[in-house]
Parts: sequence; C-alpha cells; structure tokens
Amino acid sequence: MAALKLAVLISGRGSNLQALIDACAGRDFPATVALVVSNNPQAQGLARAGACGIPTAVIERRDHGDRDAFDQALTEAIGAHDADLVCLAGFMSILGADFVARWRGRLINIHPSLLPEFPGLDTHARVLVAGVRTTGCTVHYVTAEVDAGPVIIQQSVPVEANDTPETLAARVLAAEHQIYPQAVRLIAEDRTT
Ligand code: GRF
Repeated sequence: MAALKLAVLISGRGSNLQALIDACAGRDFPATVALVVSNNPQAQGLARAGACGIPTAVIERRDHGDRDAFDQALTEAIGAHDADLVCLAGFMSILGADFVARWRGRLINIHPSLLPEFPGLDTHARVLVAGVRTTGCTVHYVTAEVDAGPVIIQQSVPVEANDTPETLAARVLAAEHQIYPQAVRLIAEDRTT
C-alpha cells in the first residue's frame, strides 16, 4: 500500500507535528509528511519542518479577503502536494463548512480531552475546576461542529491532586504524541471503525 501523504496544519509550537515527523521516519510507518501549513509565520513548528526538509507554506488569514478565500488557499496548497489526509495539530483557525465538507473523512484533529467532555479552549483549567480524576486526549474526524466528529482513538490520563493546568497539559501532551501517530496508522491501514 502506498504511504499516506499528510498535510499538517499548525499555528504554534508543533510538538504534535514533531511526533508525526518522528513516526514517519520510522521503518514501515505507512505515512509521510508532504507539507506543513501554518497560519502564523512565527510558528515554531515551521522550523521543525524546515529542519527535516519538509515543504512549508504560510497562509495568513489577514492576507485573504474572507474565510472562503483563506480556505481556498489552504486547499490549493494541500492539493499542490497531493496530500491524502489533513491533520490539524494545534491549528487555531476555524475552518469553513465548505472546507470541512470537501475534506470530510480525510480531515482529522487532536484535542486535549476525552471528547465529548471538555470541547473548546482552556481545556485543562476547566478539567481541574470540574474536579474529574481522569482526562485524556482524542483524535477525531473533523465535522462542521467544533470538537464533535467521530472519534478515531483516545487515551486516558490521570489527574493528580496537585496538578496545575500546566502540569496536567504536559502529562496529556505526552499521550497526544503517542496517539496522533497511532491514529494515522489506523487510517492508513483502513482499520478505523
Ligand atoms: C495540543 O494540546 C493539541 O491537542 C491542541 O493544541 C495543542 C497543540 O500543541 N489542539 P503543539 O503545537 O502540537 O505542540
């Protein structure tokens, strides 16, 4: 089976991008990172991609008249690199309904909670306020509703008594780095249910 070509969309640090790059470097991993797109020219993830010789594109929302034009620019960049699967990895711009419909079934996201619990931003602070003892992370298909599409894989992570949002985020992030490559493998091997 030919390797899946990934387009990874980022806005910042890019540690999940790095996890995907590292997984793709492994022998027999059924995917390659074909392109990294950032809507933020300062994103640290751009340097991670550059260091590995992966093509990058910066597509800023403010350079495009409306969201459809922005989404169209994203689609053109992804298409120019023949990507099969679009992976959102800390991409902080909401995508339009047309983009989501066009890439449906080929567009995935990672979120730092056990969806459907705690969708949205500031996840870890809300988890701590809620007082739950277990949280985690989810890779899911993207649908029109934010953080609500079908789940591909999840991993649970314990909440410790003295956690701050930062300590909890770090523990969850380590789990994210495990499950994002696992999700890509499941899709590449047609093993999602
Ligand atoms: C991760 O926690 C991810 O779940 C969320 O945004 C964060 C991105 O981190 N969507 P990084 O840029 O991959 O390091």
